[in-house]
Amino acid sequence: MDMDRIKQVGIGAAYRAGKILQQRFGNLEMVSKKGAIDLVTDADIASEKAVVETIRSAFPGHAILAEESGPIEGDPDHCWIVDPLDGTTNFAHNLGVFAVSIAFVLRQEIAVGIVFNPISGELFTATKGQGALLNNRPIQVSATAKVAESLLVTGFPYNLHDGIAGLMQKFQNCLCACQGVRRLGSAALDLCFVACGRFDGFWEENLRPWDTAAGVLIAREAGGEVSDFQTLPFHPDKKQILASNGYIHSELIALLNP
Ligand code: IPD
Ligand code: CA
Ligand code: CA
Repeated sequence: MDMDRIKQVGIGAAYRAGKILQQRFGNLEMVSKKGAIDLVTDADIASEKAVVETIRSAFPGHAILAEESGPIEGDPDHCWIVDPLDGTTNFAHNLGVFAVSIAFVLRQEIAVGIVFNPISGELFTATKGQGALLNNRPIQVSATAKVAESLLVTGFPYNLHDGIAGLMQKFQNCLCACQGVRRLGSAALDLCFVACGRFDGFWEENLRPWDTAAGVLIAREAGGEVSDFQTLPFHPDKKQILASNGYIHSELIALLNP
């Protein structure tokens, strides 16, 4: 399998989608609700169409799992996982913190990850075994050795009313132990920011495969550790994610298991 070609097609799709998001940013035509606070806009739909068309024309036989369309039939050993707009709530409020996230999964293993923010122009990429890049330059996780010296990031699920007490307990534990906790609103970017050392750790619950697949590979390839809250390796179907620089991982696990 030619991973460079896969990566180039994925980057082409991310740029195409990014251009659409950039054009529609600040000019939304339609915002509707998938749930009480779960939004979808015309930009999500148009971005996804561009990504799916680009992948399908290059690899007509590959399967695709895209957030807005669901599973698109094809060879399950060659599967793309697509979030056409990660950070829709930010986008709908004219806050430029969002990204297109595209992963390629070869026989159940994430092989390529691409996360692109068209507003900042930052393109994060990784190919399994080849390290992670930000705008073509190698990146690595931070060297922060203690939670007390760390800056963390988290996110809250759309169904936050179910289990709010548990969420708040974990948030409180981490907040009181570190230098600060941010909530940016794009899980894909949260993972990339761990990868390039801006954050030392990220945790969240109830994410979906399209939120995490690309960012997880980018974080791991930058030297990060990604698990569930029990130290078992993370997989995009899992409900809990903890990504860190590795050095503070076990301290964070303890804080997330009060
Ligand atoms: C959301 C973002 C957010 C996270 C939510 C996700 P969306 O994705 O990644 O940071 O907290 O749980 O669903 O809906 O903007 O694609
Ligand atoms: Ca998402
Ligand atoms: Ca999305």
